[in-house]
Amino acid sequence: MLVLGLETTCDETAAAVVRREGDGPGQILSNVVRAQLEEHAAFGGVVPEIAARAHVEALDGVIAAALSQANVGLRELDGVAAAAGPGLVGGVIVGLTAAKALAIVAQKPFVAVNHLEAHALTARLTDGVAFPYLLLLASGGHTQLIAVLGVGQHVRLGTTVDDALGEAFDKVAKMLGLGYPGGPEVERRATGGDPARFAFPRPMFGRAEPDFSLSGLKTAVRLAAERIAPLSEQDVDDLCASFQAAATDVVANRVRAGYRLFSARFGLPSAIVAAGGVAANQSIRMALKRLSGELGRRLVAPPLALCGDNGAMIAWAGAERLALGLSDDLDFAPRPRWPL
Ligand code: KG4
Ligand code: ZN
Repeated sequence: MLVLGLETTCDETAAAVVRREGDGPGQILSNVVRAQLEEHAAFGGVVPEIAARAHVEALDGVIAAALSQANVGLRELDGVAAAAGPGLVGGVIVGLTAAKALAIVAQKPFVAVNHLEAHALTARLTDGVAFPYLLLLASGGHTQLIAVLGVGQHVRLGTTVDDALGEAFDKVAKMLGLGYPGGPEVERRATGGDPARFAFPRPMFGRAEPDFSLSGLKTAVRLAAERIAPLSEQDVDDLCASFQAAATDVVANRVRAGYRLFSARFGLPSAIVAAGGVAANQSIRMALKRLSGELGRRLVAPPLALCGDNGAMIAWAGAERLALGLSDDLDFAPRPRWPL
């Protein structure tokens, strides 16, 4: 089965062609991502109106590149998928409309994909992970622990009561004068810093419910930065390292709580899966690797290129639905809010 997937929910314009055969991992024939970094850099965050316009301008070229790199014609596709949310409505409309038009031209089914489910299913694309599994979904807008029981079958075990994990990285980066998106910048600066210089709080540590709270940690970083200002380069490195150490401890502790709850309710998960942009963080990956080893479970974290937003995960989620006989009507409306 060959599926084209489009992703336009935030600040990446992406298209990809993926092949799904049987129950094993999928094959990525092309995965074209055009990030809108320069467009939003000056604003320190994504500006929805600018994002929507940039998607309009880039999408045709990105789709053409994805089809030609995969060496696949429109008519050879078995379906066209687009992320229909959650995300910025302007961008979602662009991708959704394009996918519907292509489905009409190709005379193939259209699939509306939940962006979060696409992140969640990436571990099946890359590693053929069997259901059920425990998922940590951590991005700029979401921080959730989810029991993934099947396609379209998820149980949320815990979530953040305030900031998302990626949002905390982005806000710390912003207050330290680092670039956007902040996660990769904070991680880069942390490598030269002392993780033990600042004893930042580990909110929710030890709680049985696998929830997160990150705003107190973020505030602690701001107060420490204000206390020692003006900041030297080394101060910034140390603040980043100490923040990342605290965030990493929190993640490992909360995933452990999620694992306990999962096991009590659903039995042993086939794997622990990390997904979303924050899963690119090496410190967090290493901590999850250690935890998984201790629990005797496999850790599956997508390769870096598939952690952030991309078209391959949308195409794959579309293929998973098509394989179950699921597709959507052409009047499917954008869902800027669409919880898993
Ligand atoms: O999944 P994603 O690409 O977009 C959505 O939010 O849906 O995630 C982006 C988020 C941003 O907050 C970014 O700062 C964070 O993931 N991120 C990271 C790293 N790379 C990206 N956070 C920590 N460490 C990283 N290496
Ligand atoms: Zn995402």
